[in-house]
Amino acid sequence: MRLPSGERAIPFALACVSCFLFGSGTIVTAAPNGANPSPPPANARAGAFEQGEDLFFHETFGGNGRTCSTCHDPRNEFTMSPQLAQQRYQADPTHPLFRPIDSDDGGGNSYATVLDHALFRVTIPLHPNVVILDAPGQRTITVWRGVPTIANVDLTAPFLQDGRASTLQEQALGAIKGHMQPSRKPTAKELDALVAFETEFFYPLRLRALNDADRTGIGPEFSVPVISPAAQRGKAVFDLHCRRCHDGELLDEPSNPSVSHFASAFVSDANTLNLPLFRLGFRQPDGAVIETVSPDPGRAALTGDLDDLNKFDTPALRGLKHTAPYFHDNSADTLEQVIDHYNSSFNMQITFDERDDLLAYLELL
Ligand code: HEC
Ligand code: HEC
Repeated sequence: MRLPSGERAIPFALACVSCFLFGSGTIVTAAPNGANPSPPPANARAGAFEQGEDLFFHETFGGNGRTCSTCHDPRNEFTMSPQLAQQRYQADPTHPLFRPIDSDDGGGNSYATVLDHALFRVTIPLHPNVVILDAPGQRTITVWRGVPTIANVDLTAPFLQDGRASTLQEQALGAIKGHMQPSRKPTAKELDALVAFETEFFYPLRLRALNDADRTGIGPEFSVPVISPAAQRGKAVFDLHCRRCHDGELLDEPSNPSVSHFASAFVSDANTLNLPLFRLGFRQPDGAVIETVSPDPGRAALTGDLDDLNKFDTPALRGLKHTAPYFHDNSADTLEQVIDHYNSSFNMQITFDERDDLLAYLELL
């Protein structure tokens, strides 16, 4: 289905409401601006979509009370913010969000990191070439990560912030095992249904057209009308400083197709939140071990390659204004802080006026 190109952008929440209205109807969130719902998914997928919706919101797999929506909350554009975590804690400190497996600070009784920054501990297998020097026998590393939105996941493989899941089924299975302490395994059909549900969210809605077989008429920038002079100037700033990494319709691809989409924005290097550091040893082909320090080595934990240190999957930037905080460690609370980070880490020399223009552009995405 190709939506008219002049259609206005509609926030995620509204897109989701439509799904609830046309889904099983069990969850209904308020549509802030009274927008019209989008059409329900095509018949062939509707059954799986409804089952997936039900699983996403209600199925705990016999575990610790969490569902997918515990962390990917539709009230928060399918992500988690510190404000929402705090509201939850004030209302009920035993809410499933607070479980000592991944959202406590380590000892099982304090939750400051999730309350302040909406971060969760994620455990990742280490490549055989990498060793944690202070725990040499340990074959996994546990890092703090924010919760990405599920909007547009149909268009943004590979998944997770270091790209370690190549399919959404694999990702969902890992999420169930990692976050939910399940007492039963999901079936293949359940995993497919979760994926059928997740892949119905697009922001802006017309991005759905990118999925259609007939993509004629979709030119560059088909869904970002840049009208105000400030946003036009901001786009020029973006083209100069940012587009080499953030290009394509989702702004998640390097402009040079031969460059990897795993890159470092020097977020782990800056470690603004002072997350705990790991001393890591990387074994080289000649047997030598090079030592380095990082709170989250990103891609390098998986590849064992020091060149991948602190590199992450370049994220899509669509719908950005709805998904604060930013970066894998949620270290930037606002888009101003994102730009300030780039200015200091890349010496981009973006002036205050240019920053305002760039913000006007980023908020359009
Ligand atoms: C305890 C909180 C929590 C729960 C519960 C949870 N997730 Fe997540 N989710 C996360 C975090 C944190 C990440 C990022 C992990 C990373 O990048 O290593 C993530 C990442 C994802 C991504 C990757 C998005 C992308 O752009 O790469 C998808 C898709 C996803 N989760 C779906 C699910 C599904 C489906 C479920 C239920 C089966 C689920 N999640 C349950 C916290 C959670
Ligand atoms: C060298 C490649 C590169 C350049 C240049 C670059 N980015 Fe990024 N960007 C990334 C990567 C990689 C990440 C993920 C970093 C992380 O979380 O550690 C990222 C993350 C972001 C995020 C966070 C998105 C989210 O949902 O958390 C924003 C916003 C962003 N970039 C905007 C910009 C802007 C604006 C510019 C130009 C001023 C820019 N980027 C320049 C590679 C780049």
